[in-house]
This record gives sequence, C-alpha cells and structure tokens, in this order.
Amino acid sequence: MNTILVGAQWGDEGKGKIIDVLTKDADIVVRSQGGNNAGHTVEVGKEKYVLHLIPSGILWPKKTCVIGNGVVIDPVSLVEEIKGLEARGFKTKGNLLLSENAHLVFPYHRAIDELRELRKGKGKIGTTKRGIGPAYGDKAARVGLRLVDLLKPAQFKEKLTERIETNNIAIKALGGKSVPVKETLVAYEAAAKILRPYITNTVVWLHEALTKKKKMLFEGAQGTFLDIDFGTYPYVTSSNTTAGGASTGSGVPPHRMDRVVGCMKAYTTRVGEGNLPTESAQLADLFHGMGREFGATTGRARRCGWFDAVATHYAGLVNGFDEVAVTNLDGLDSLSEIKVCVAYELKGKRIDYPPVDLAEWNAIKPVYKTFKGWKTDTSKVREYKKLPVAARNYLKGIADLTGAELTIVSVGPRREATLWV
Ligand code: IMP
Repeated sequence: MNTILVGAQWGDEGKGKIIDVLTKDADIVVRSQGGNNAGHTVEVGKEKYVLHLIPSGILWPKKTCVIGNGVVIDPVSLVEEIKGLEARGFKTKGNLLLSENAHLVFPYHRAIDELRELRKGKGKIGTTKRGIGPAYGDKAARVGLRLVDLLKPAQFKEKLTERIETNNIAIKALGGKSVPVKETLVAYEAAAKILRPYITNTVVWLHEALTKKKKMLFEGAQGTFLDIDFGTYPYVTSSNTTAGGASTGSGVPPHRMDRVVGCMKAYTTRVGEGNLPTESAQLADLFHGMGREFGATTGRARRCGWFDAVATHYAGLVNGFDEVAVTNLDGLDSLSEIKVCVAYELKGKRIDYPPVDLAEWNAIKPVYKTFKGWKTDTSKVREYKKLPVAARNYLKGIADLTGAELTIVSVGPRREATLWV
C-alpha cells in the first residue's frame, strides 16, 4: 500500500501529526515538493519536533526518509536540521536519502524573494521568505543548480559564481545588497561535505524498494489551495502541492500509488495574503486566545475561518481523496454553533466550485449551513465512538460534503490523541 497524504486546504492542516501516525505502517517516507517553507510539527511524549525539510518519519526507528527530486533544498538549513536531530538522538545517516536531482536554494533566492515582496508592498504574497519561488523559477528557467552539482567542487564553483554575479544585477536593481561569492561558496562547500553521503539516485532506489514491496508514504507539504496550478493564484507557493506532485517529485509513477488521504482541519486557516472566503474574526480571537494557530516556520498568527466545504470538495476532485483525516476537532469544543460553508454566492448566483479569477474570489460570499456544537472537551477522548454525537455528526457532515470517507480524527498534537474511525 503506497499512500499519498496531502493538505485539503491552505496548508497547516496538521499533516505532520497525521504523517507521523501513518508512518507506523510504512517503510519509507518521501517528501516530493516544497522546501523549508514547510513546518511539520510532531509531539512525541513530552518532546516537540518541528521539521522543515526532513520527513517526520525520521522520528521512527527503521524507517527510511527520502527527499525527492521535486523538493528545493537549502543545504545549509538542511545541515542544521540534521545536526539538530542527531543532537536529540536520532540517526540520520542511512535513514535519510537526498535526490541528486533536487534543486538548490541559495542566498540570492532568499534575497530576491524578500525584495520582490517589498516591492509589491500591499500586493505582496506573504511568502515565508525562504527563497522558494525564485528557486523553482530558476528550475523552470533551466538555470538552477542541483545537488549533483554540489558534489563536483570545480564545476560547482564555476556555476555558482556565474549565478551569484548574474543574480546580483537583479538584487542591486531591486535595491538590495549583493550576495558575496566567497562566503557563499565556503558555506555551501562545507554543507556539501556533510551531505555527500546522503546524496544518491533516489529514483533507482525507490524503484528497487517497490520491487521489494516496501510500503511508501508520500508526505505532502503546504495544501491544495497553495498549489501553483489549482490554488488561489497568485497567492500560492511555487510547487504542485496536490497528489500529482508526489509522482513528478519522486519518480514513483501514478499507477503505483494506492490511496490518497486528504488532511483537513475541522475549520480553516491560512498564513500569508490571498483569499479566505470564510475568514472570521471570532474564530481568530478564539484560537489565538487559546495560544493556537501560530505558524511553525515563521511564527506568524494564522488567519482563521469556518470549514469551507466548497474548497475541500474541489480538493477531493483534484487529488482524488479516498479518505480524509480531520485534525484540530478540539479547537471547536467551546462553540454552541458551528458554521460550514456549503456553496459560494457570486453576483447573486450560487456556485459550487472555487472561481479562478482573483476578482471573483474577492467577490464571493459564503453560504453557510449551521451545525450544533458539542460544548464538551474532546481532547482527552481516545475512541471515536466516545465522541459526543454532535461532534460525530459534524465530522460526518464535513467528510460527506468533501466527498470522501472519514478514517482518522485528531483531537490534539500528540500521537495518542488520534481516533481511528
Ligand atoms: P512561499 O512558499 O514561501 O513562496 O510562500 C507562498 C505562500 O505559501 C504564502 O502564503 C505562504 O504563507 C504559504 N506557505 C508556504 N509554505 C507553507 C506551509 O508550509 N504552510 C502554510 N502556508 C505555507
């Protein structure tokens, strides 16, 4: 059984935690897109781990983690993540493989990311400033450097020097400070020495694993509405965050994928700018007051809204959800009534699909259905049957509206706060 887990909303659906519990039944965990813009939080016992590039499967013994060709890697930040894990007793050598085909993120990508955002002013995307957009831009423009280049010092030096000099022209034009060639080379060459043993042909390795019938879990980063094709463009990230990205970003073909699990919060959140039709100040106050809904990568307060079933239903279409996992149910425990968006209204007309045009996104109004709240603490419940009837009705309601079977419910960040339906 090879499983793809993807976010059904705008990212931060709690995928890190669901991946962690699904890893128990997998041999290999694969990241196939995004970069260190992701922040996957996992709590094990009293310990909390926030992983940005390395699949959270690394927290389990005897699981191999693969960072596939579709990921963009900042090697300096990856080395920090490796060192952080090793310092906490996790073995990475032999358990972590990096695709030689994966593209690299450099300081000039981060500088350009930041300068473009500054220049856009109010129209900014609200990126994580990790250089993700410019790095994928270079990949598409065929001027990117890959991990394979990092392994060849002379070639790397030559290519990187040219790239820095060219990008410094753009950085200067945007009013920024030039990226130094020498310091960058030193930092990347040091990272290369540490990463060398991890770098391999992961496509061949994954196919050998398929032959041995190893079970794979594909860990999606970000969410469907941040997808470069299906998201709320241009307020999106620069990769395919949807199920198809698992194949193109790893080299494991679509017909070898057995199931797609959509991960969604029991409500909606988003960080950064862009449309969020069900945004609610009441919910933002409630969650922030509880100390939840702050970004794992940037610490930014997330925007909050009611569950948007128009969005998750569309996510079900483009990803082909077989199942859904609902997280953060406990966040809604105190409410007596809970709204769910079941359609949008655009210029007096009801629509069932998210629009494509930005002006239309801005003009839509959510049409709500109200569910009864349960007003009970669910965070200590450990069996699905023991959830209040109103909570189960709500969960079934949102899964039905999404069009997939509910199989997992999460009522807290820890492994044991997982209910199997
Ligand atoms: P970028 O990926 O840094 O270019 O940011 C583009 C958009 O995606 C911004 O709105 C970010 O806030 C959002 N984004 C990127 N990564 C994540 C994530 O892991 N979780 C939630 N939002 C993200």
